[in-house]
Amino acid sequence: MKIGYLQFKPEFGKGKDNIAKIENMVSDVDFDLLVIPELANSGYVFCSKEEVEEYSEKPSEGIFCNALFKISAEKKCFIVSGFCERAVETSPETGDGNINFYNSSILVCPDHNFFIYRKIHLFEEEKLFFSPGNLKFKVNRISSPNFGSVNIGMMICFDWIIPEAARTLALQGAQIICHPSNLVMPYCQQAMYTRAVENHVFIITTNRIGTETNRNKEVKFTGKSVILDTKGNYLATGSEDKEEIRIVEINPEEAFNKNINKNNHLFNDRRPEFYFS
Ligand code: ACM
Repeated sequence: MKIGYLQFKPEFGKGKDNIAKIENMVSDVDFDLLVIPELANSGYVFCSKEEVEEYSEKPSEGIFCNALFKISAEKKCFIVSGFCERAVETSPETGDGNINFYNSSILVCPDHNFFIYRKIHLFEEEKLFFSPGNLKFKVNRISSPNFGSVNIGMMICFDWIIPEAARTLALQGAQIICHPSNLVMPYCQQAMYTRAVENHVFIITTNRIGTETNRNKEVKFTGKSVILDTKGNYLATGSEDKEEIRIVEINPEEAFNKNINKNNHLFNDRRPEFYFS
């Protein structure tokens, strides 16, 4: 199975330019599964809720997600991308329709099916602009004549620092964890070694690059996207500041082997009755 990352610099509020760049970058590249950074349609540095509203989209209607559906159908490939989501939801209390905004990721399939994950652990000022994710971590099974069937988990950026995120996906059978990111701290790329080893899963952490400025705010992102195998080997490591696609070939079946040696099994050795009081 050919899996990879697309590392780039989304421009704030320029959804059309951002998807045009992605279309251009993937045009000659062959892959089965590609991961694109967090908030790739909108950019990251929001200063107001009005901006979130303006640059968000419903996956079924937005230009960004629709372009991803088109790429996926044409190339018969699967794409995971972060995006700024507008969701119309019914309040369980009042029955009224509410519009909520989430820092989400979408898994796009060639038959136009899709799955959504909404970032559960919001980072820093994201808490001012997004609702915390309201969907449980869930594994989605994708299938293709190219690679058979594979279980995909999604988490977004800062979710990495809460080990339960990757563990929950792994316990559900995730073979590949897709991790769209806009990383600002320097730890994650090394920490994903541990997430891969402690769960025996493949991980694609796709980070963005560049510095984004909006009014008086400026955020610098750390690039260096990574792909890890189930033993913690770095199959690909990106540059700090260049837009690039990297594709590697893996055997996702390796993620089903949770044996450490003949007496230790990653999951069967867990003793959760001792973990929480
Ligand atoms: C982050 O969660 N975007 C750091």
